[in-house]
Amino acid sequence: MRIIVYQNYQLLSKKAAQIIASQIILKPNSILGLATGSTPIGTYKNLIKMYEEGLIDFSKVTTFNLDEYYQLPIDNNQSYHFFMNDNLFNHININKENIHIPNGMAKDIDNECLNYDKIIDNSGGIDIQLLGIGNNAHIGFNEPTINFNKKTHIVTLDESTRKANARFFSSLEEVPTKAITMGTGSIFKSKKILLLASGKNKAKAIYNTVYGEVTPEVPSSILQFHQDVILILDTEAASLLKDKDYEVLNEISKVR
Ligand code: F6R
Repeated sequence: MRIIVYQNYQLLSKKAAQIIASQIILKPNSILGLATGSTPIGTYKNLIKMYEEGLIDFSKVTTFNLDEYYQLPIDNNQSYHFFMNDNLFNHININKENIHIPNGMAKDIDNECLNYDKIIDNSGGIDIQLLGIGNNAHIGFNEPTINFNKKTHIVTLDESTRKANARFFSSLEEVPTKAITMGTGSIFKSKKILLLASGKNKAKAIYNTVYGEVTPEVPSSILQFHQDVILILDTEAASLLKDKDYEVLNEISKVR
């Protein structure tokens, strides 16, 4: 596990975008795993800028999103379909046919889950998976539980997750109670994983991810076993880590 800490969210976002951009430059038909939530928004802004500057081309890129709310219409402005179009896809030259987001409105939801993993496998697998992390250490919507879920599945959201996400809705009642998410196993199969965390409220989850026992009660702890994980943090998210375990990059020149 490689840990890089930046002084602030802006630098963290820039670094994450540069890593994803280099993946696309090295392999134009890369398979990207993408996340929603507040954390990756800065990364997406930087990727859009690099696209506008002609530095990266998304025309051959394929994407798979981690999750989607269950039974929230995709045109609802809180759906992850809406989020991805708004924050990334509408601003780059990605081929819409290459975009994959779980369909939380599918009539046969079991088949939707099964199929999602199949399409990922058939694509050759995810080259780089972008992750945020929940305050409770969830990745995707794999909530703390008694076993690691291998495959894409329906999950009941923790009350803490619903409360955390209520900031995007007009009331807590409106936050869906269920979601469809790639399993921890589906995420773990990614060749490279880039986990971003910003802010003090993520510090405990990050501490447990790095030092804690590997247990499904801390879903992100499984990443300790993955061979190519980079945690990109700001100083607040890294505040419980021991200094020797990471380098803090202060200067923007150092990330160029
Ligand atoms: C989103 C996702 C979640 C979020 C996590 C953190 O697709 O899978 O695991 O990454 O809930 O969300 P933010 O970034 O809003 O703190």
